[in-house]
Amino acid sequence: MSDIVEAKGLTKVYRRGREEIHALRDVDFIVKKGEFASIIGPSGSGKTALLNVLGCLDTPTRGSLRINGIETCGLREHDLVKLRRDNIGFVFQQFYLMPTLTARENIELPLLFSHKNGKGAGIDGILEMVGLSDRGNHLPGQLSGGEMQRVAIGRALINDPKIVLADEPTGNLDSATSHMIFKLFEELNRQGMTLIIVTHNLDLARKAHKMYTLKDGQIEGCEDCSPNTDMMC
Ligand SMILES: Nc1ncnc2c1ncn2[C@@H]1O[C@H](COP(=O)(O)OP(=O)(O)O)[C@@H](O)[C@H]1O
Ligand SMILES: [Mg+2]
Repeated sequence: MSDIVEAKGLTKVYRRGREEIHALRDVDFIVKKGEFASIIGPSGSGKTALLNVLGCLDTPTRGSLRINGIETCGLREHDLVKLRRDNIGFVFQQFYLMPTLTARENIELPLLFSHKNGKGAGIDGILEMVGLSDRGNHLPGQLSGGEMQRVAIGRALINDPKIVLADEPTGNLDSATSHMIFKLFEELNRQGMTLIIVTHNLDLARKAHKMYTLKDGQIEGCEDCSPNTDMMC
């Protein structure tokens, strides 16, 4: 299968006054189409920095990143926005829903900027996919945490992305709800979606095909989590 994410030598240095913080050090990272990768690592190890760079929300200080065959480094902001819109869906720990919009309206919001008119499954298909067919007209305040995250996942899917990235998507949810959210991710992956998910939860991380461990801005290990294997990759 072809590589959909190809990162080579990714380095991210943040500057805080005179201090330089090396959030990523020379990271190589490849994800194939249809693969489910998880990333674990202690707080401050660079998980969010890596996900933000892979999702083109942030640019690396050095290194190269190809998304779906397109080199992103050196692209102008306008082209980067288009690449992000056409390829990437993002899910965050804090959901970031608009409190005055219904679940349906929150999911549809990205269509305002993409003019795609719900290419792919369309709004009703997405509501069904994320298990919210009977909650479409509810406001976020009337939904549980798990339902709010389902709305955020629906919003990430509405533009029919090639990859979904999630940064600790179950960080604000209880254990049973976290498992249900991961079941949804597994189902999306079965339908062909490429997934990269950061989590603190080892049980959930092992539901991926490959689990990467970050430490001090470097990939320290990769475990093949397919059933019946106990291998490093
Ligand atoms: N905007 C920023 N400015 C300066 N330092 C940052 C910024 N964002 C992250 N960092 C630093 O980069 C390192 C990696 O952070 P992060 O990727 O958020 O870690 P994680 O998500 O694994 O907890 C940390 O040392 C953090 O303090
Ligand atoms: Mg983080």
